[in-house]
Amino acid sequence: QAPLRLGIAGLGTVGVGVIKIIQRKANLLAQRTGRSVVISAVSARSRDKDRGVTISGYAWEDDPVALALRDDVDLFVELMGGSDGPAKAATEAALAAGKDVVTANKAMLAHHGQMLAEKAEAKGAALRFEAAVAGGIPVIKALTEGLAGNRIERIAGVMNGTCNYILTRMENEGLSYDEVFEAAKALGYLEADPTLDVGGIDAGHKLALLAAIGFGTQVDFDNMVLEGIERITIEDIRHAADMGYRIKLLGVAQMTGRGLEQRMTPCLVPALSPLGQLENATNMCVLEGDEVGQIVLRGAGAGEGPTASAVMSDVLDIARGIRVPTFGVPAAALEKSTPAVAATP
Ligand code: HSE
Repeated sequence: QAPLRLGIAGLGTVGVGVIKIIQRKANLLAQRTGRSVVISAVSARSRDKDRGVTISGYAWEDDPVALALRDDVDLFVELMGGSDGPAKAATEAALAAGKDVVTANKAMLAHHGQMLAEKAEAKGAALRFEAAVAGGIPVIKALTEGLAGNRIERIAGVMNGTCNYILTRMENEGLSYDEVFEAAKALGYLEADPTLDVGGIDAGHKLALLAAIGFGTQVDFDNMVLEGIERITIEDIRHAADMGYRIKLLGVAQMTGRGLEQRMTPCLVPALSPLGQLENATNMCVLEGDEVGQIVLRGAGAGEGPTASAVMSDVLDIARGIRVPTFGVPAAALEKSTPAVAATP
């Protein structure tokens, strides 16, 4: 079979992780898919930065749109981030040209996922985004494939590593919010705009995507009750601990009689529960289906290896010729959700 040829836009933490996997595991990947996975060309803001990987064997494009449209690119891998701008322009260009796209861009999908999925379907192209939600946890696969025979009843979880890292260090070490925020920054967990993390917006984007997949509704980020962790004080955390609870930025999505309810807010969870014991940048997704009952997925929600692992799961599906609709069902079949009146923080 002909090799699958990638064009990778964005050489930050995740892009570099993907390149390392492709360079180091070429044989394993070929064994698993029956064809080789190669990189034709890359694009990023700066060409000469030392990233710890060799990119001189790949063609270079300054413009991600040009990269997406190259004849030697079958699959466009969008790892730039940002809900609009170059990421969206290049994704749209690739889909319009009928090319498959893999992206880790939760903000872009939370705002434009419906439109992009329709564009992909119109051209018979794949649009896949496992890495956009909960880093290395294969939660989208779990929903679209593993639980395909279930009616999903509830989706809950901790989906922002930065917030969980900040909250657990405040609790364990008695450090102030500001001190831990700086430490999280140094570890590279934060989004380019950290208010997306601590404001709960990044986690909200992820929950909106899971809710659309799980409940068969259009992505409805605007109708979510959203509150971040900026106002949580060390006193709040101590009071919670005295009562046997921990504070987590917890997302919950469920279908109510009045429509889809989506909340991403700081919540008290029992300290000894699986959610309460979640430390540092770990994420947890709790899925409830009518047949399977409750399943809990736990793993690294951010970082080079885990996020690149999720990108590769999509890349390898495409290499194997596995085609599933973007949201598990065609975008045209997604229902508009009715915002739940009951959704108060
Ligand atoms: N800033 C995100 C987080 C990165 O902290 O979870 C992974 O999406």
